[in-house]
Amino acid sequence: MKTALITGASSGIGLELAKIHASKGGDLVIIARSKDKLNALKIQLEKEFGINVLVIEKDLATPNAAIEVFTETESHGIQVDYLINNAGFGLYGKFEDSDWEAENDMIQVNITALTQFTKLYLPGMIARKNGKIMNVASTAAFVPGPTMAVYCATKPYVLSFSEAVNNEVSHHGISITALCPGATASGFSKTAKADKSALFSKTKLATSEEVAQFGYAAMLKGKQVAIHGFMNQFLAFIVRFTPRSLVVKISRKVIDQ
Ligand SMILES: NC(=O)c1ccc[n+]([C@@H]2O[C@H](COP(=O)([O-])OP(=O)(O)OC[C@H]3O[C@@H](n4cnc5c(N)ncnc54)[C@H](OP(=O)(O)O)[C@@H]3O)[C@@H](O)[C@H]2O)c1
Repeated sequence: MKTALITGASSGIGLELAKIHASKGGDLVIIARSKDKLNALKIQLEKEFGINVLVIEKDLATPNAAIEVFTETESHGIQVDYLINNAGFGLYGKFEDSDWEAENDMIQVNITALTQFTKLYLPGMIARKNGKIMNVASTAAFVPGPTMAVYCATKPYVLSFSEAVNNEVSHHGISITALCPGATASGFSKTAKADKSALFSKTKLATSEEVAQFGYAAMLKGKQVAIHGFMNQFLAFIVRFTPRSLVVKISRKVIDQ
C-alpha cells in the first residue's frame, strides 16, 4: 500500500485527506505545527485502520523546513508515494496595512515549501516511475483578490507550477494535480481573519470532507486540474471571457467584509 505525506494535516482539508488515505490502508507522514492535534490523529488512525503514522512537527514558514522533513523521512527509510502539499493560509486586509512578516511566512508556506517538497520527493518518484503529487491551490488561482492580495497571488503560482511540472513528468508515469477548492468550512477563514467576508458568511461553504474526497479521487485519476464544485468550475471558465478590470471589482465585493 502507498505511503502519503500530507502537509497541514492537523486541520480542515488536510486532516480529511489523512483520514481518507488511512481508510484505504495507506501509511502516513503528517506535518503541521500543532503537535498535539497530529498525535491525537495518529493514535486515532493507527487504532482504527492498523496503519503506521509518522508525525513531524514543523513550521513550514522556516526556510529549511522541507529539507528537514525530507531528511527525517529518509532516515526512517520511508518511501513517499503520494506527496500532498496542502498546508497554507491566508490573511485578510489591505496590502498597505498588512504585516510583512506574516506575508513573508505565507509566501514561504504557500509557495516555497510546496516547491521545495516537490523538488525533493520528485527524483525518487521518477526513479521508481511511480508517484502522485497533489498541490492545493484555490479558485483564487483564477482571480486577483483585493484585500487578500498576497494570498490570492500565491495560488496562481501553485496552479501554474503544478501544470507545468506535470507536463514535464507525465511521461515518467507521475502526475501532479492542482486541487482548486472554493470557499470551504475549515480553520482557514478564522486564521485569515476573513470570517465576516461575504465569501465565508453569505455563501454555502463546501465541507472539508467533500473537498478532500474530490481531491483525493482526482489525484488517483492523475487529473491535472481539479476544481471543486460546479459554480467554481463555471467561475474559472467565465473569467476567461470577462474584462480583467471587472473581475477585480467583483472579486473585491465578494471578499470584502
Ligand atoms: N478553506 C478554504 O476556503 C480554502 C479555499 C481554497 C483553498 N484552500 C487551501 O486549502 C489548504 C488547506 O487549508 P484549510 O482550508 O484546510 O485550512 P485550515 O483548516 O486552516 O488548515 C491549514 C493547515 O495548514 C497548516 N499550516 C498553516 N501554517 C503552517 C505552517 N507555518 N507550518 C506548518 N503547517 C502550517 C495548519 O497546521 P498548524 O496550524 O497546526 O501548523 C493546518 O493543518 C490551504 O492551502 C488553503 O490555502 C482553502
